[in-house]
Amino acid sequence: MKDSSIIQAIGNTPLIKLYSVTKDLPKKVEIYAKAELLNPGGSVKDRPALRMIQEGIRTGELSPGKIIMDPTSGNTGVAYAMIGSALGYRVELVVPENVSRARKEIAKSYGAKLTFSSAMEGSDGAIRLSQKLKAENPDKYFMPNQYNNHLNPQAHYESTGIEIYEQTAGRITHFITGIGTSGTVMGVGRRLKEYSSDIKVYAAEPAEALHGLEGLKHMESSIVPGIYDPSQLDGVRPIATEVGYEMTERLALEEGLFVGYSSGANVAAALELAKDLKEGVVVTILCDSGTRYLC
Ligand SMILES: Cc1ncc(COP(=O)(O)O)c(C=O)c1O
Repeated sequence: MKDSSIIQAIGNTPLIKLYSVTKDLPKKVEIYAKAELLNPGGSVKDRPALRMIQEGIRTGELSPGKIIMDPTSGNTGVAYAMIGSALGYRVELVVPENVSRARKEIAKSYGAKLTFSSAMEGSDGAIRLSQKLKAENPDKYFMPNQYNNHLNPQAHYESTGIEIYEQTAGRITHFITGIGTSGTVMGVGRRLKEYSSDIKVYAAEPAEALHGLEGLKHMESSIVPGIYDPSQLDGVRPIATEVGYEMTERLALEEGLFVGYSSGANVAAALELAKDLKEGVVVTILCDSGTRYLC
């Protein structure tokens, strides 16, 4: 394995207190957002991508010459592409054709090859196509399989969850974040519940099957990830696309946070949760940057 220091910059992201969008909340209710967009690959997916690749190397499943291949809506792909470049592995990403141009170009800039699945079939189409590729060429590819790999939530259990607890000095009372693979909510949630079973953990899910919150999954109408276990959560809260979009805009205009739509949806969901509290410390995730959605 090549030496690399960029991967050592993954994690330990800042926790940002939100002041403006929260101004109508009771004084004793605070909302914080974990700035995962500040990871070197620009998203929350750097952590699980690194964890899965490191384990592949450790077990020998990712041997020199094998290609890292996985279905991804974009950010995990960028993370694989960055880490593959840093560690000396080729990367092939299976992405729905309609993924934002910015993300395709970023992945290609790191040297990754893109294979397109049908835009109509969304992230499920990418899952099906990658499974077909792996079945046809089992020895060619290392497929981390982020939707079913327990190391995806484990990465957040081992890092994000601990950081959030420590950065709030143990004051966190509620955690809520949107579900894509569900790795973030399952891993952070498990860690927080170990610290204290009083901490409430919620998933935020697009309210509609056809939604515009890229990166998030409406479970009832999707292939449900193997790592998703709603019985470990205190609830699943719907978030409408327009509400997420509106908050994305407000974060840029009022908080100086130019983030992606799932981040806006997360903060909107955190705010809706916070409105019902008399006191509490609510934490959510800023998954990626608004620059990823510019073209
Ligand atoms: C932009 C964006 N938001 C949210 C998520 C959801 O994170 P997770 O897969 O950990 O549920 C992802 C991950 O795919 C993402 O790319």
